Amino acid sequence: MSKLEKLILKKTKQQKLVCLTAYTYPVAKILDKHCDIILVGDSLAMTIYGEKDTLEATLEMMINHGKAVVKACRFAFVVVDLPFGSYENSKEQALASAKKVLQQTGCDAVKLETNLQTIETVEFLCQNNIPVMAHIGLLPQQVRKIGKYRYFGKKQDEAEQIYQTSLKLQQAGAFSLVIEAVPALLAEKITQALAIPTIGIGASIHCDGQILVIDDLLGLNTDFTPLFVEKFTNLASQIDIAVQNFAVAVQNGDFPKKEHQV
Ligand code: KIV
Repeated sequence: MSKLEKLILKKTKQQKLVCLTAYTYPVAKILDKHCDIILVGDSLAMTIYGEKDTLEATLEMMINHGKAVVKACRFAFVVVDLPFGSYENSKEQALASAKKVLQQTGCDAVKLETNLQTIETVEFLCQNNIPVMAHIGLLPQQVRKIGKYRYFGKKQDEAEQIYQTSLKLQQAGAFSLVIEAVPALLAEKITQALAIPTIGIGASIHCDGQILVIDDLLGLNTDFTPLFVEKFTNLASQIDIAVQNFAVAVQNGDFPKKEHQV
């Protein structure tokens, strides 16, 4: 049974899918033991490169980090994001970008942000044997157009549009949907209607799986914490203490010790 078939089977068995982002080899190596899906998200523009949003991610960045993550993973299904500007112009542009990502990283699938206008692109990719994870609800690549990050689908017409989009994406061949920042009732309705697994981020307990940005879970992101994030540890303060201890040891002549030298 392929890794992809195993993911779909988990939905039928009502087993939750564990998903996280990773961008580097050492982190991906740790996550690989615990995750069904590892996403090399375009959130790397913010977490790794310090940009203000994800629009600065490039195909080259996605490929470089994708390669590092794939090298580290033996078990997890690795998905790489198609970044802003790499798939919107035409179906052919999307196919060329997706092929480049799959061929150069060795990843299992690509993810792209989708709405009613991009259904045809998803269909075209799937017809060309590209495994596609689609992303609905809040689409972070549109933040400069929408003005701010917010929940989507609180109003009836917006909820209906997201719901219809999810049905069409399944029909188009997407193997899974990431649902970001939508109300619980809508996420539940979509999850129940679809045979493919839904992966929620800010989309309630009702999704078939959950994903978080790894830096958020680890408490490495000190800028802004979205409502839906739980920090499972606080690495930022642990790093701070470790580095402070190192600085004091160097300043006091306590490091390196005898055992560190020959
Ligand atoms: O880029 C990313 O990290 C994502 C997740 C938030 C799902 O798309």
